[in-house]
Amino acid sequence: MAIMTLELFKPATLAGMTLRNRIIRAATHESLADGSGAPGAAHEKLYKALAKGGAGAIITGYAGVQQDGKSSLANMLMINDDSLIPAYRKLTDAVHDHETPIILQIAHCGRQTRSAVTGMPTVAPSPLKDFIFNEERPHELSEGEIETIIGSFVAAAGRARKAGFDGVQLHLAHGYLLAEFLSSYTNRRRDRWGGPIANKFRIIAEILRRIRAEEGDYPVLVKINGFDHRRKGMRPLEAVEIARLLEASGCSAIEVSSGTVEEGLSIMRGPVFPSEALLASNFKFKSLPAPLKKVLAPLLRLTMPSPKPWRGYNLDAAKAIRQAVSIPVIAVGGLHTLENITSVLESGTADFISMSRPFVIEPNIVRKLQEGRHAASRCIECNYCAIMIEEYPLRCWFGKLPSKQPA
Ligand SMILES: Cc1cc2nc3c(=O)[nH]c(=O)nc-3n(C[C@H](O)[C@H](O)[C@H](O)COP(=O)(O)O)c2cc1C
Repeated sequence: MAIMTLELFKPATLAGMTLRNRIIRAATHESLADGSGAPGAAHEKLYKALAKGGAGAIITGYAGVQQDGKSSLANMLMINDDSLIPAYRKLTDAVHDHETPIILQIAHCGRQTRSAVTGMPTVAPSPLKDFIFNEERPHELSEGEIETIIGSFVAAAGRARKAGFDGVQLHLAHGYLLAEFLSSYTNRRRDRWGGPIANKFRIIAEILRRIRAEEGDYPVLVKINGFDHRRKGMRPLEAVEIARLLEASGCSAIEVSSGTVEEGLSIMRGPVFPSEALLASNFKFKSLPAPLKKVLAPLLRLTMPSPKPWRGYNLDAAKAIRQAVSIPVIAVGGLHTLENITSVLESGTADFISMSRPFVIEPNIVRKLQEGRHAASRCIECNYCAIMIEEYPLRCWFGKLPSKQPA
């Protein structure tokens, strides 16, 4: 076993937490919450399997801080009310029984959701329609509404702490509300919340300042976009500046991702666009007549190729950020082989790595890698898991839909 492989599986400290190794389960929406957004028995079963299976730490699927920021995907976790704390406490206790830290990812979906789901108007820094969620123009947030959102993130962090989470992760990536503030593509404001980087960052600075004031040194991690391929969107140089601001604002660690939902499947990439899954479960396509779907499937595959490379696509951005800050950096995105993972750590590209899809197919992937039973994940990067969560609980579909979909 190479020296670095041994380092990989040694205990390591992340934001004051002790992890049994450097492989983290990245935030993965599971579509398993109940109507109020509380986790239940299915979450507990999955998270226990992840903890027993060797994950160094678990980051939950995104949990909504406000009703208007709820995901359009099915059954999102919510953390918008104190009444949810006991259900989360049960989950954190179960994971802690296996000596695994658990971090709650907290988010507001901004314009990447639908009023049909939230029952409220969609909101964004600027009233710009999204290419995918384009049924409605989002409402431009007022000063007062921004203040409310800051308060909701701070209250969510307080609830997470009371529920026994070892930390929270602010979702600043993938085109959701806080990413919309950071990117000039979606933030066209001319007031103190838009324009220069310090203004676009202000909402996050305020959230961090107030969490620090109320929760002391409670770990607050973030997930940011290193880039997003959008016109005037996020670029690595700007992401590096944001990383510096994050460190100066008391952020505990930075996970580096990329992309937006609008971009298609650039956040989680793969060789073939998952047309059939999209046509089966996406709100825009699922009610189309079957013959039309047959025609559309190959067309979508042709017109929506996944950007390349499919592996390690965030590593350049992660490396640039790691060189600019002294807090830990976590790399994510197509790191599915032991060789990829060890080389990220060995080259100093990141301090930790996280994975999502490999844990969907094998919750015990870390133990398998450690015991030498596997050199790589069995994930085929079909991305059906990422598409089908719009309707069905998270599972590995292995590139195939059953002829009759499950109820
Ligand atoms: C089914 C699924 C659900 C996801 N849900 C979230 C989420 O809730 N929050 C988040 O930040 N990223 C989410 N992601 C993105 C992953 O955390 C990760 O950034 C991406 O899949 C690339 O990593 P991978 O190649 O290891 O899958 C999700 C990905 C998948 C496949």
